[in-house]
Amino acid sequence: MADPAPKGRFITLEGGEGAGKTTQSRRLAETLRARGLEVILTREPGGVPGAEVLRELLLSGRVAWSAPAEAFLHFAARAEHIAALLRPALDRGAWVVCDRFSDSTMAYQGYAQGADKALIAGLSALVGLTPDLTLVLEVPAAISAERMAARGLPADRYEREDGDFQARVRAGFLEIAAHAPDRCLVLDASSGADAVAAAIWQAVTQRLGPP
Ligand code: TMP
Repeated sequence: MADPAPKGRFITLEGGEGAGKTTQSRRLAETLRARGLEVILTREPGGVPGAEVLRELLLSGRVAWSAPAEAFLHFAARAEHIAALLRPALDRGAWVVCDRFSDSTMAYQGYAQGADKALIAGLSALVGLTPDLTLVLEVPAAISAERMAARGLPADRYEREDGDFQARVRAGFLEIAAHAPDRCLVLDASSGADAVAAAIWQAVTQRLGPP
């Protein structure tokens, strides 16, 4: 009998601002590609044109929505991303590395903005895609602030929030990870990029098996 079709793997990187997710997502994708795998490197909100439009709107801060409305908008972008990119890629056996996913809605709109966490958990179940592995990159507040400042880019709607908001986001991610230890791993991301990349690779091979 023929082997069943290979199933892809879905890895998400999460964390507060300045945790280094974008750099580490790119490095992980490169490492996986070097093994000859098909790898999709993507991000949220966004990843496909219909969701990038919502990203621009959400990050601009042009409109101040209520927290639940903002959660719905992130899930609208996510639903499009899943339908147009993530699901087809995973179905054909690709490895998907995604810079943020549903845990960000729980941390930002739920823990930091006060939207109902049960609503967000419900929306998350409704979109029907759960990562195989979530790496939560954790950095102390001072390093996060330093890295944001060093970027030299204008701050977006979430980066403009104060230290209390950023602390609620970080505490939220830690609580999310503590509630889902089989899926999530918290990594100290305050060391150099090479050390963090090595820790991520070790986590991927240990949790998901050698690619
Ligand atoms: P980033 O790609 O630079 O991390 O920017 C995305 C921003 O959007 C970041 O500040 C976190 C925020 N965000 C939410 O508030 N909710 C979400 O569901 C997602 C995916 C991101």
